[in-house]
Amino acid sequence: MKIDIVTLFPEMFEGAFSHSILKRAQAKGHANIHLHNLRDWSSSKHKNVDDYSYGGGAGMVMMVEPMVRCIEELQSKTSYDEVIFLTPDGELLNQKIANQFSTKQNLLIICGHYKGIDERIRTHFITREISIGDYVLSGGELAAMALTDAIVRLIPGVLNDETSALSDSYQDNLLSPPVYTRPADFRGWKVPDVLLSGNDKEIAQWRYEQAVERTRQRRPGMLGVDHESTD
Ligand code: ADE
Repeated sequence: MKIDIVTLFPEMFEGAFSHSILKRAQAKGHANIHLHNLRDWSSSKHKNVDDYSYGGGAGMVMMVEPMVRCIEELQSKTSYDEVIFLTPDGELLNQKIANQFSTKQNLLIICGHYKGIDERIRTHFITREISIGDYVLSGGELAAMALTDAIVRLIPGVLNDETSALSDSYQDNLLSPPVYTRPADFRGWKVPDVLLSGNDKEIAQWRYEQAVERTRQRRPGMLGVDHESTD
């Protein structure tokens, strides 16, 4: 998969993209991630990319012209499945959306800043608008990192058996069950006996029940009829 990201702050991505699973996914060629600095498409002497909001009001708005020049140049080289804009008023990101995006070949991700981007960019170029939560970040960069991570880890081959996404919270419409590692007894806080029993069937049953219970307590809205509690 190829992911192009347009941002005013490409350096912000360096740490997030050069460690752990995102690093490995790129090294193995599963994800080709390219960062593009929007200022490179500014035609002004001082590389301006924002301007005052028509109608007044606080905050600057990202200008239509540099962004359109940037998107059109990128689109002339790559045919994108989606042009995604990160914005707090977008569709709330969830595992289903991450799964959908992970099946695509080419994604273009646009990070906004300041008070927002000129609405004409959204109208004419953006195909999906995504929010990572009902709160406002200072820009789309952190949201783009979260989205990219959620997508890339789902690309076949990126995770190995041990880190398989199949056991992730949300993947079955259930949160994950509790996990433990050695020692089996720490300050008298014991690991549940069943996990030490070696009985795979009982362990699987325990994990399922714990996952259902955790989901019932924390995200009851996720529970479909299949997982409905009987108590
Ligand atoms: N940009 C600013 N806040 C955001 C959010 N919550 N989600 C996505 N993009 C954003």
